[in-house]
Amino acid sequence: MTDLDALQRDALAAVAAAEDLDDLERVRVTFTGKRSELAAAQKGMGSLDADERRRRGQALNAFRQAFTSAFDERHEQLSDAALRARLEAERLDLTLPPRRVPPGRPHLLTQVEHEILDVFIGMGYRVAEGPEAESGTYNFDMLNIEPNHPARQEMDTIYVDGFDDVVLRTHTSPVQARVMTAEEPPIAVVCPGRTYRADAVDATHSPVFSQVEGLVIAEDVTMADLRGTLLAFARSLFGADRQIRLRPSFFPFTEPSAEVDVSFEGSAGNHGWLEILGAGMVDPNVLAACGVDGDRFRGFAFGIGIERVAMLRHGVHDIRELFDADARFLARF
Ligand code: DAH
Repeated sequence: MTDLDALQRDALAAVAAAEDLDDLERVRVTFTGKRSELAAAQKGMGSLDADERRRRGQALNAFRQAFTSAFDERHEQLSDAALRARLEAERLDLTLPPRRVPPGRPHLLTQVEHEILDVFIGMGYRVAEGPEAESGTYNFDMLNIEPNHPARQEMDTIYVDGFDDVVLRTHTSPVQARVMTAEEPPIAVVCPGRTYRADAVDATHSPVFSQVEGLVIAEDVTMADLRGTLLAFARSLFGADRQIRLRPSFFPFTEPSAEVDVSFEGSAGNHGWLEILGAGMVDPNVLAACGVDGDRFRGFAFGIGIERVAMLRHGVHDIRELFDADARFLARF
């Protein structure tokens, strides 16, 4: 019959000698598993008489208890050691400098476009957009620009090859024609977007540029409303102390038309006027072409050059800087 005292000594020695949790698990299987001496000793119990069986049973229990408590204690020690080893292995060096990822931000032109739109959205305007590849009908005809009108040549139109009557829009004004055609007054929209002209690149010209068009159509709109609106716009963007000045001008789609200047005071005591946009009362021919009842409704419109406003506001002297993607320039805004 198994000598339980000897077995217990061997088992506890093996538990104490286990070097890690796997090792300890093997010790458990060896001494208490299905094919262990302990299991064999238990099976042999059936052939004992009652007294012997009781004593043997107690001895087996004592062995199991001694083994379990030694096992649990060793298990805890080895788990702690394993955790400490893992933490040590996964230690992070917090003194390493992080990799620097410079934060991105909207381009200056996008920032200025959003500022402009925000001013008008604050006055109740909606934003409307139209296509950059536009039909000549919307870009010219519906805006009262006749085929032989000098404005058509002046605008240095870029035509789209392979299509009849498709141009890269020379201004955002066709969007007003689209809105008037599709919607009933009252209308108040601002229309931002890219515009194109076959201009040679220099400090003040780029073949790609951008505008924000504005259009208001309602029953009793006057030139005074236009002036008040543009004054509020100029003051939001350039400063509360600014004045505006309307100079008589000509655009085929407005009558009367004006070029609008904003006042400035230079630091050297110089002062004067800077042109910021074109505007006017929507020409009756345009209302008619777009299906608006000119006896009932009037409207005003304006067109703002985004590059020009950005350059005036931020002291940029060469339009090319807005398109060069030079990180040193872009980082300034
Ligand atoms: N479309 C004109 C241009 O690109 C700008 C403009 C002037 C728009 C007067 C208007 C306006 O709506 O009323 O030069």
